[in-house]
Amino acid sequence: MLGPFWKYFAHDVGIDLGTVNTLVLVKGKGIVIREPTVVALHRKTRQVLAIGGEAKRMLGRTPQAIEAVRPLKDGVISDFETTEAMLRYFIQKVHKNPEEKLFSLPKIPKPRVAVGIPSGVTEVERRAVQDACLSAGAREAYLIEEPMAAAIGAKLPIEQPEGVMVCDIGGGTCEIAVISLGGMVVNKSLRVAGDELDEAIINYMRMRYGMLIGERSAEEVKIEIGSAYPLDKKEKELVTVVRGRDMSTGLPKSIKVNASDIREALAPVISEIIGAIQEVLEEVPPELLTDIVERGIYLAGGGALLRGLDKKIAEETKLPVYISDDPLTTVVRGCGEVLENLDLLSKVKVTGGLR
Ligand SMILES: Nc1ncnc2c1ncn2[C@@H]1O[C@H](COP(=O)(O)OP(=O)(O)OP(=O)(O)O)[C@@H](O)[C@H]1O
Ligand SMILES: [Mg+2]
Repeated sequence: MLGPFWKYFAHDVGIDLGTVNTLVLVKGKGIVIREPTVVALHRKTRQVLAIGGEAKRMLGRTPQAIEAVRPLKDGVISDFETTEAMLRYFIQKVHKNPEEKLFSLPKIPKPRVAVGIPSGVTEVERRAVQDACLSAGAREAYLIEEPMAAAIGAKLPIEQPEGVMVCDIGGGTCEIAVISLGGMVVNKSLRVAGDELDEAIINYMRMRYGMLIGERSAEEVKIEIGSAYPLDKKEKELVTVVRGRDMSTGLPKSIKVNASDIREALAPVISEIIGAIQEVLEEVPPELLTDIVERGIYLAGGGALLRGLDKKIAEETKLPVYISDDPLTTVVRGCGEVLENLDLLSKVKVTGGLR
C-alpha cells in the first residue's frame, strides 16, 4: 500500500468514463479534459497512436494498418487494454502541470479517482473499470453509479428523505433512478440511448432512400435537426443534407431531410426510453411518487439535449421535466463533488478504496 506521501503530488480526479465522451475533473480546477472516448491503435502492434478528438476524426477513415476503436460499448468496457491506455493517458495528462516542475522527482501521479459507471453493470464489469483505473495509476478508485453521480451533479437533495428522480441519457445507456436518503430506491439501466438514435437514422436512410450513411453523419443529423416533439415554427428551418452512398449504384448520393422525417426515425427509440421511465415510476413507493410529482424528473446526459425530449417525456408521464444545467457535464461534476465530501462518498460509492 502506498503511504500518504502521494497525496502531495497527485490531484484527486473525477472521471465520467462515458461510451461517447470521457470527462475528467480535477479537484480545485474544474473540468480539464473533455474528449470523445475513441482510441486509434496500430492494428498489429496495438500501439496507441491517438486518443480523443484526434482519434475520433480517424473513425471510418483509417488505412488498413490503423484501427480507431471506441473501447466502451453500451456504457461498459468492451476493450479493457485500450480503456486502460486511455485512462492512463488522461490521468497523466492532468498531472502535467508546469508549476509542478518545482518537484524534480520522478513523476508518478497517484490520484484518488471517482468514476461514474452505469448502474446495471455486473461485478466483472465493475472490476474491469476499477482495475483499469488502478493500473492506469490511481491510488484509490471509487465507483459511483451514474444516476447517483448525475443527481449529485444536478445538486438534488439526495440525502433527504425525499424522492428525487433522474434520467441520464448518454450514448450507450439510459440510466433512470429514484433516490432517497442517499440510496437508489428504484433504478433501471437501459442499454439504449444516443447510439441507438444514431442507428435509427442510419436504418431510416437505408430503408427509405436506399442510402448508406456512417455513424458520424447520423449523429450530426441527429444533433443538427433531431427532435422528439414537433417544434412549431422552428420546424420549417430544420432541414439538412445527408451525404452517403447509394446502395444500388454504389455512388455518392445526397438527400435533403427535414425534422419530421428524422423525428419519425427516432420515435421508436424514444418510446423505448419513455417506456423505461414509466416502468420505474410504476415501481416507486407511493410516498416517493408524491415527491416526484411535485419535484419532477431531471434529465442529464447528452441525450437530454435532443429537441423537445423534455416536452415529450412530460406529456407521456404527466410530470414536470427539467434539464439539468449543462447536462453533458452533470455526471463528472457529481463525481468531483463526492471527492470533496468523504461522508457522502462513503455513502454513495459502490465499491472502491485502497488497492
Ligand atoms: N444537441 C444534442 N442533441 C441530441 N443528442 C446529443 C446532443 N449533443 C450530444 N448528444 C448525444 O449525447 C450522447 C453523448 O452523451 P454523453 O456524453 O452524456 O454520453 P456518455 O456519457 O459518453 O455515454 P454513457 O453515459 O451512455 O456511457 C451522444 O449520443 C450524442 O450524440
Ligand atoms: Mg454518461
